[in-house]
Amino acid sequence: MPPQLKRLLPAFIIFILLFLVLKYYLTPETFGEKGHYRYSSIAEVQNIDMKYAGMDKCNECHDDKVEELGMDVHADLSCEACHGPGLTHAENDGDYEILIPTEREFCALCHSKNISRSTRIITQINILEHNTGKKCIDCHNPHMPWELKE
Ligand code: HEC
Ligand code: HEC
Ligand code: HEC
Ligand code: HEC
Repeated sequence: MPPQLKRLLPAFIIFILLFLVLKYYLTPETFGEKGHYRYSSIAEVQNIDMKYAGMDKCNECHDDKVEELGMDVHADLSCEACHGPGLTHAENDGDYEILIPTEREFCALCHSKNISRSTRIITQINILEHNTGKKCIDCHNPHMPWELKE
């Protein structure tokens, strides 16, 4: 063995030992049990509480709104896209508060001018110019935006 390598040998051995020690202590417990992943993460993910109910559930009590929504340009949206997670509300007969976003900024999340969005997919307005001084829902019915109130 050339002398240069001989001198490097202890360094290699230290690195390899260090690697093995760190691997031993840092590898999560169930890693590798069934494959190249942490097996216990499956149970963890299964135990995450559900938050969304889905539109079919809303339909049980608000079929009028589901029908309205389906008739106009917002038909592709889900109730909970705007009202937020609604499972607790739905499971408690509506007793549990649910979000009602009324501010201009909320509609702007989807509709404000943004050059990285295609105007063919979503109509964009400049919220600093489009009928300022009023809330969007003073004029547009959020469920049927083309049913203008004034
Ligand atoms: C089991 C029946 C039931 C289900 C299912 C249900 N709701 Fe309701 N919801 C109600 C009742 C009852 C009210 C009226 C409560 C009130 O006025 O205090 C209500 C009120 C609301 C309101 C108005 C709240 C307010 O503060 O005025 C919204 C928004 C709403 N529901 C959205 C939803 C959405 C979205 C879903 C589906 C995720 C849903 N609801 C599922 C029964 C239900
Ligand atoms: C584009 C966002 C949006 C979507 C999608 C949407 N909502 Fe709403 N919803 C609103 C806003 C904003 C209000 C408040 C309207 C107001 O105060 O004039 C509201 C009000 C309500 C209300 C209470 C007031 C009322 O008009 O009677 C209920 C109940 C409701 N929504 C249920 C639903 C259900 C059920 C769906 C799905 C079928 C749905 N919403 C989808 C934005 C939305
Ligand atoms: C989650 C995204 C989202 C939110 C939030 C949202 N919209 Fe929409 N909106 C859409 C989509 C998608 C369409 C259908 C495609 C289009 O025409 O832009 C649409 C269509 C519209 C249209 C018809 C545009 C046209 O050219 O025919 C109006 C008006 C409108 N929305 C108003 C509102 C108002 C007012 C609010 C707030 C209460 C709102 N939207 C919130 C996604 C959204
Ligand atoms: C004073 C009433 C009024 C208010 C407030 C209002 N709009 Fe409108 N909106 C209209 C009318 C009327 C039209 C159709 C004529 C036009 O395009 O201006 C329209 C058109 C639109 C369109 C379609 C534009 C297009 O190019 O086809 C969108 C999207 C829209 N509004 C979203 C919104 C949003 C989001 C808000 C709140 C930030 C809002 N509007 C506030 C009355 C209003």
